[in-house]
Amino acid sequence: MTRIVISSDHVGLGLRKAVAAHLQARGCVVEDVGPTSDARTDYPKWGEAAARIVRDGGADFGIVICGTGFGISLAANKLKGIRCVVCSEPYTARLSRQHNNANMLAFGARVVGEDLALMIVDAFLDAAFEGGRHANRVAMIGDIEAREGGG
Ligand code: RB5
Repeated sequence: MTRIVISSDHVGLGLRKAVAAHLQARGCVVEDVGPTSDARTDYPKWGEAAARIVRDGGADFGIVICGTGFGISLAANKLKGIRCVVCSEPYTARLSRQHNNANMLAFGARVVGEDLALMIVDAFLDAAFEGGRHANRVAMIGDIEAREGGG
């Protein structure tokens, strides 16, 4: 079963609950790291929390939600080995898996409605990395991280 960790900030909380229910209906194992209240909270810590679990192998994929998807994805991408993409439609979500081997998906609760968000989630999870020439390019991203000493 696919293991997915999810998080959000206060803006993304409602949509995160809908995503969690959808993932469970798909048969995924869902780890929801929060937050549990809709009190204003800072997206970097939630992006980091989900990304650490993916990075450490505790989940196959992460899904993170803030107002735009940008802030929480930028935080997640600071962790070595994390490839978090912001998607607002299913096409790029599918290609992010097939070509970029994305391991985290972000979207904005102020950008996409629930129906579209769930279509994005499905496109992401239904696609598989194609490897081949794309594997070399993804490895090159890792090389950049190594040269920068990040993580
Ligand atoms: C919160 O107002 C908002 O800045 C946050 O949800 C996100 O959109 C940041 O990128």
